Amino acid sequence: MQQPIRIAPSILSADFASLGEEVRAIGAAGAEYVHIDVMDGHFVPNLTIGPGVVKALRKHSDKVFDVHLMIAPVDPFIEAFAQAGADIITVHVEATPHVHRTIQLIRSLGKKPGISLNPSTPASAVEYLLDDVDLVLVMSVNPGFGGQTFIESQLAKVAELRRRIDATGRRIDLEIDGGINFETAPRAIAAGADVLVAGTATFTGGPTAYGSNIRRLRGSA
Ligand code: DX5
Ligand code: ZN
Repeated sequence: MQQPIRIAPSILSADFASLGEEVRAIGAAGAEYVHIDVMDGHFVPNLTIGPGVVKALRKHSDKVFDVHLMIAPVDPFIEAFAQAGADIITVHVEATPHVHRTIQLIRSLGKKPGISLNPSTPASAVEYLLDDVDLVLVMSVNPGFGGQTFIESQLAKVAELRRRIDATGRRIDLEIDGGINFETAPRAIAAGADVLVAGTATFTGGPTAYGSNIRRLRGSA
């Protein structure tokens, strides 16, 4: 069942020189999740945030830390992100041949496992993982950078995953990430997404705009 819409600002678009304040500001502005994009320059062509930054941010927020790992190998770093204070740890189905093992590792550390799919990966790739994850993340851009254009074909994938998730009867977040703005957000929600990642759309206009940006994304403005 589609759950209430939650907004997950991607701090990739925040002011990196004031990350603590930025994380507090989006929480005060109504965001439920803090989406943290971790990139390694190998699985994706960019470098971003490590566990040390996650740990430093943890004291600035009691929101759900939604850590999106775009790294390979991934297993050697799971424990560090768990200890740093991640709540949800999402890994890519494309990042390791043994993703089921990775999900078990995340669970064994007391964290919620998520699984992410690149735009070219079919929904069926997660068929044998749905009993074990708490979140499915559909990438609606090729991972690596904020500010890219939404890939329309991913709406059909969201709709198919909505059906597959509902068939399990389990409560699994269906999250969409990339190019989410005031125009694409309502269509992603209509397709069945219930967690919206938004970097550019949240942070545009600076702190005084965060509240209205988040309300508009949620469809309650
Ligand atoms: C892309 C990241 C996204 C990205 C979203 O690799 O996973 O979270 O920062 O940025 P926007 O919302 O600007 O497309
Ligand atoms: Zn992300």
